[in-house]
Amino acid sequence: MSVKITKPRGTNDVLPSQSAAWQAVEGKLITAARRFGYSEIRTPVFEATELFARGVGDGTDVVNKEMYTFEDRGGRSISLRPEGTAGVVRAAIENGLLADALPRKVCYLVSCFRYEKPQSGRYRQFHQFGVEMFGADAPAADAEVICMVSDILRGFGLAGVTLELNSIGCPACRAEYHKALRAYFEGYRAELCPTCQERLDKNPMRILDCKNPECREIASGAPVILDYLCPECRAHFEAVKDLVAAAGIAYTVNPTVVRGLDYYTRTVFEFSVPGYPALCGGGRYGGLVAELGGPDIEGVGFAIGLERLLALLSEQGLAPAQPKGCDVYLASMGEAAGKKAFLLAEALRRADVSAQCDLCGRSVKAQMKYADKLGARYAMVIGDDELAKNEAELKEMAGERRVMVELLDDSFTDAVRKVLAT
Ligand code: HAM
Repeated sequence: MSVKITKPRGTNDVLPSQSAAWQAVEGKLITAARRFGYSEIRTPVFEATELFARGVGDGTDVVNKEMYTFEDRGGRSISLRPEGTAGVVRAAIENGLLADALPRKVCYLVSCFRYEKPQSGRYRQFHQFGVEMFGADAPAADAEVICMVSDILRGFGLAGVTLELNSIGCPACRAEYHKALRAYFEGYRAELCPTCQERLDKNPMRILDCKNPECREIASGAPVILDYLCPECRAHFEAVKDLVAAAGIAYTVNPTVVRGLDYYTRTVFEFSVPGYPALCGGGRYGGLVAELGGPDIEGVGFAIGLERLLALLSEQGLAPAQPKGCDVYLASMGEAAGKKAFLLAEALRRADVSAQCDLCGRSVKAQMKYADKLGARYAMVIGDDELAKNEAELKEMAGERRVMVELLDDSFTDAVRKVLAT
């Protein structure tokens, strides 16, 4: 008995009717990144679990509750990557990318895996485009990354984009802040959700991004990090804001933006669109590279969720159109014409024209129906008459245009290309 197996919960199939939009979006993102000096890096889908525990942080929901972790056949603990940054940092260190020519800029398109409760826009397998810039401490680096995201979103023509900025300081100013947060939340310990009670002991800042309504209500009165920044972090943040404003990018400072990953220091930011909170997020990470065994240099970057970006583009009527599946369909009647159509289709493809012919032995009527379903721009029917005359009519499928074309080996492809181009 056959069984119908369905896709795992929280995953998506990108169907042929959708893939061109994905490719166009990915192409635009990579092109924008190249303009800013980024080259693509590709890293494994799975890494040693320890990379994410140390990198992303074992106090985060992403690592604690959402990671796909398993033991491989060699007894190693392996995890599917829940985000792109940690693997990219590992690869940059391991391959000596951080030894010279800093800042080093890399970008990536990755699939990520998080065992979250699936809902619209939240999946267990999703895709990110991201960038990481290593070895640039100046506020201009943070500002350039923010400009890049803003340019990208503007380049797609998106409406309603907002930017929220915050600084979460360095370990020095954060120590003071943690004390203040602990003292504040201690007064509400019993009212916090069980996870936040644990967070209170481990990393009280994580309480600030709890989604539980009671915890949110309590967190709304908590001390804000901006009041605890050391003079260096304060000056850095002021300079980032200054450059972002000078570049004409509107923002609001939101001290509750703390991000759900542990590696951030100083600048953090989120771009949102109504209905798409935190469409894109990023920031600076001061200690991550050294923590993972690399040189003592900082990184700054961002990532955007591709499923969310594509959904938003289609909601705003901006999704790239699916190109026609076929320029020319060569229908045929009879064996000799079938062979001719086969060879002419091949000649067209060798000349960079997308062409198809009958591969099923169907009637001309059925072939034309199929050409219509393919969305072919032009079709040609080759039968005994056409073979005898060595010419056939190229017909526009959705219009009235008709052009006679000679079926000669040395002129056919040029003649068809000319028709397609005019
Ligand atoms: P993140 O905010 O965890 O940051 O994820 C980045 C983006 O991935 C989000 O803004 C969202 O669009 C998308 N995303 C996250 N989770 C899901 C999900 N379950 N389903 C669909 N989309 C999702 C990072 O991952 C950092 N590595 C960003 C970064 C790079 N920071 C510095 N460099």
